[in-house]
Amino acid sequence: MTPEIVHYDQRPELWQRFSDVFVGILPEYNLHGDVLDAGYWERLHEIFGRYQLALVGPDDEISATARGIPTRWDGTPMGLGPGVEAAIETAFTLHDAGREPNTLCALGIEVAPGHQGAGLGTAMLHALQATARESGFSQVIVPARPSWKDRYPLVAIERYARWTTDDGLPFDPWLRTQVRAGGKLSIPTSRSSLITGTVADWESWTGMRFPDSDDYVIPGGLATVRIDRDADLGTYWEPSVWVVHESGVC
Ligand SMILES: CC(C)(COP(=O)(O)OP(=O)(O)OC[C@H]1O[C@@H](n2cnc3c(N)ncnc32)[C@H](O)[C@@H]1OP(=O)(O)O)[C@@H](O)C(=O)NCCC(=O)NCCS
Repeated sequence: MTPEIVHYDQRPELWQRFSDVFVGILPEYNLHGDVLDAGYWERLHEIFGRYQLALVGPDDEISATARGIPTRWDGTPMGLGPGVEAAIETAFTLHDAGREPNTLCALGIEVAPGHQGAGLGTAMLHALQATARESGFSQVIVPARPSWKDRYPLVAIERYARWTTDDGLPFDPWLRTQVRAGGKLSIPTSRSSLITGTVADWESWTGMRFPDSDDYVIPGGLATVRIDRDADLGTYWEPSVWVVHESGVC
């Protein structure tokens, strides 16, 4: 049996294993985004179950996942907005107002440890494109989390997104993979997801101590976290780069 794409509405019980399968793929603080903590996560699966995908192999082994949300996009770079969290809020507002979506927005592709580097990221992009086609949407828009940005947390995302290899492809492996898959890089955004917590939260999420108020480089961080000890607050904005893929809908 070859691995197949399954969506949440078909096999919701599979999603109970996700936290084990994908543990450690993203830093702990990425699981505490302010918008995600606001209850959208549960609604995402209830309302948009057919856009939550998993790649499932023999013995129900889950090797990759892709999350999506239907939204409206006017086709302009500015219309893509500031990133992941604004995209989630826009999509739910659209849904709650009963308006028709025209685009599928990806909210993250994750490949399980042990399966990375084998092209499954591209397979999940194709699965999102197929899902968009089935819904009659012309494009998939991806607020991509560049996979090597954590090596350069002090470099502005606007500059990082412009770096290329000798053959002219994006320097970043995940952005490069998306361009190879036919995607077009659009605008980078420095304020894609907001993650805030107390100083104790941040110390627990990162395994670091923050003795002073300052900006800190943190493990896996694509940017620095700003620690304000007087306010007992740590603030981290995760950047992303928008990539636009045609779905191939006629
Ligand atoms: C980013 C990710 C989805 C890519 O999926 P993948 O199936 O591993 O990707 P591919 O096999 O197509 O490889 C893509 C590129 O990444 C590189 N790569 C893949 N796995 C890697 C790893 N573990 N470490 C470093 N580079 C890796 C590959 O070398 C390739 O670059 P190349 O152009 O030099 O060949 C996956 O690595 C992942 O789940 N990362 C963590 C979650 C995340 O950040 N997701 C992005 C959110 S939008």
